Amino acid sequence: MDVKRLRRDFTVLQKEVGGSVPIYFDNACQTLRPRQVTEAVAEYYESFPACAGRSVHKFATEVSLRCDAVRARAAAFFNAETPNEIAFLKNTTEGLNTVIFGLGLKAGDELVTTDYEHNSVHVPAIELARSRGVKRKMVPSSEDGTFDLEAFEKSLSKKAKLVAMCLTSNVTGYTLPAREVVEIAHDRGARVLFDAAQAAPSMKLDVKRLDVDFLVASAHKMCGPSGVGLFYCRSEFSDHLRPIMFGGHGVTDTGRDSFKLLPAPERFETGLQNYSGIMGTGAAIEYLEGVGLAEVREHEIALNKRISRALSGVNGVSVIGPQDPNLRGGIFSFNVEGLTAHDVAMILDNSKNIMMRSGMHCCHAYFHQRGLDGCARASVYLYNTSEEADTFVAAVTELARKFSGRR
Ligand code: ALA
Repeated sequence: MDVKRLRRDFTVLQKEVGGSVPIYFDNACQTLRPRQVTEAVAEYYESFPACAGRSVHKFATEVSLRCDAVRARAAAFFNAETPNEIAFLKNTTEGLNTVIFGLGLKAGDELVTTDYEHNSVHVPAIELARSRGVKRKMVPSSEDGTFDLEAFEKSLSKKAKLVAMCLTSNVTGYTLPAREVVEIAHDRGARVLFDAAQAAPSMKLDVKRLDVDFLVASAHKMCGPSGVGLFYCRSEFSDHLRPIMFGGHGVTDTGRDSFKLLPAPERFETGLQNYSGIMGTGAAIEYLEGVGLAEVREHEIALNKRISRALSGVNGVSVIGPQDPNLRGGIFSFNVEGLTAHDVAMILDNSKNIMMRSGMHCCHAYFHQRGLDGCARASVYLYNTSEEADTFVAAVTELARKFSGRR
């Protein structure tokens, strides 16, 4: 992978902010976008700024055709059986809510999750329990922060109807054994929903090989625009899944007191869509396919290994999640003794122009359960370099020496 060449595609990486080009290590929150994506977004507004699936004029037809093409590209990206298995939503959270609330789970049914879910699964699971009496079960992680398949098997009773889990943790970068999880869940008659927001940017996700029933990802974490979620729904279930939002475009007909839903995917695409975002998402998928997901993954892990190895011997620095960097993808979450996570992030931003996220990362329950106040998180992507990793290591080492009072 030619990182130097790829960096030229990202206009923001050509600009200095406060005297230098920033080191952007907040990719798990959202990635930067190459000009191929911003150009596709601008092309929509400048050349055919109309809406799809309604009007019959030339602009509208162009948008409809282009949306169809992006849907087909996204279907191929995830190896879905047909483009109709892909719906464009606003983000991953919307897709997760669609399945969790739309599957018709009722009192006595069980919903099984990990004990490190993002709030986008954690909060709907609590709300489902509160409003419908669905029992939520959490699989306790192994001591080393990995997924415990044995504990998972034990937690699955005959009442388990849905397994909803984050494929890759946004806090630790750990990816659970997806194929095994699906196999065990299906054996017990439960359906599986994967939150793939952190996995899709750098892993080939083949929904047929995984045999997963529902999967959701967000374009903004994979070089695409903000405001687009990609929702895979196996066709076998799509017509049984109720949308969570109703209105324009999701229906084929309405009477005085009745309406008839369109089949998937349009039943999930209520209201006017984010057409420029959908165009940009098509460009983002094309971009990632051009670079190669396997190469992106290898690059992320190489940088994470470089960072993890260099900081493993530094007193006062503790890593969150599995200690082996091979298990953490592009994420290095950590704390520095003597400093809060926000202090670490602010000092590194102000002193070294390193941008990263700090706090509880929308996973408050994860931190509360482990008695932690949060962490700082450096997350790398395809355009980050080993020089940037070394600058980060030197900066964190300096902080630990200064504030932890240890040598
Ligand atoms: N889930 C996103 C993150 O981890 C927003 O930063």
